Amino acid sequence: MSRPVFTRTRTSETPVGGTRTGGTRTWEYAEQLIRGRRATRAFRPDPVPQDTLRRIFSLAGAAPSNSNAQPWRVEVVGGARRDRLADALRTAHAERRVTADYPYSEDMYAPVHRERRAAFGADLYGALGIGPEDHTARAAYDAESLGFYGAPHAAFLFVTGDGGPRLAADAGAYLQTLLLAMTAYGVSSCPQGLLSFYADTVRDHLGVDDGKLLVGISFGYADENAPVNRVATGRATLDATTTFHVRVRRRADDPDTATSLLDEAVFQMTGLEGPALALTLRDAPVRHRRGSSPRACRVWGRVSFCGRCAVPGVRLRSVHGSRGRARPRRLLLGTP
Ligand SMILES: Cc1cc2nc3c(=O)[nH]c(=O)nc-3n(C[C@H](O)[C@H](O)[C@H](O)COP(=O)(O)O)c2cc1C
Repeated sequence: MSRPVFTRTRTSETPVGGTRTGGTRTWEYAEQLIRGRRATRAFRPDPVPQDTLRRIFSLAGAAPSNSNAQPWRVEVVGGARRDRLADALRTAHAERRVTADYPYSEDMYAPVHRERRAAFGADLYGALGIGPEDHTARAAYDAESLGFYGAPHAAFLFVTGDGGPRLAADAGAYLQTLLLAMTAYGVSSCPQGLLSFYADTVRDHLGVDDGKLLVGISFGYADENAPVNRVATGRATLDATTTFHVRVRRRADDPDTATSLLDEAVFQMTGLEGPALALTLRDAPVRHRRGSSPRACRVWGRVSFCGRCAVPGVRLRSVHGSRGRARPRRLLLGTP
């Protein structure tokens, strides 16, 4: 059996926010696990051991759902069944036999979504050496992806009941729980909406007669040498997606907010000067401290941090202060 990657939390322990388990805080596990997952598009052929498969899918079943209805059904394939299904999917694609249980339209995307999709596409196809206008090569790559990107396994997530959007939300919670469970066991994955375009083919091959196919997930062990697996996606800033309707002083000692403010700071970075990192923060007075001894190293409009912690990629641990020009900001830096 493959050992879990995150061995420091035993399943018998109930992690509590902020408590230490074997020297690592639970939010640190979450940071590693959630940020450590990424879509993988090239795999080694080695199958995932049965026991590990059962553990992963059992863990995924702990996902929340409305009234605990658990309106999902999961079909997992490997071996000859997987090979036959991959062939059938490619044939269905070639013959344009699209049968999507959930309708798809480009119109569902807002302009900002389209921008993000285009940026992602440029990164992905760029890593594959496929140019932006080479639609033939892009289509060929997408068709080939119906072979599960070479993964030894695929899972198909059906929404049972009436399969409506409310139940699909539960399945979405299941999907992310499954992806994280795989990550925890060192198994890489790629959710593939494309697989759901051939729902009838999947149904026929697996003898499924209940539910609507929402998404397929290819999974196995990553081919670490494949350039496509080095595509790193970014995310919208916290402020772009989240509004806090709470009356609190702007104080960021949680990692999410700190990361978002760091994005802001990095965005305004003016350049690297020798060992020091120069940042401009809207002409606000900025002080730099390490530990409990404050060490001002500010000049108006530009801040140089000491060489010890001011390395590229330095991580902002916390930020206090307001956006106003009059009030000082304080940055507490830690090494990454
Ligand atoms: C519902 C869903 C459908 C997806 N469909 C595809 C797909 O058909 N093909 C593909 O290569 N990746 C697909 N992805 C992966 C996304 O492209 C990927 O999650 C996104 O770009 C963010 O990158 P990351 O997962 O590496 O963080 C899908 C992801 C989700 C959640």
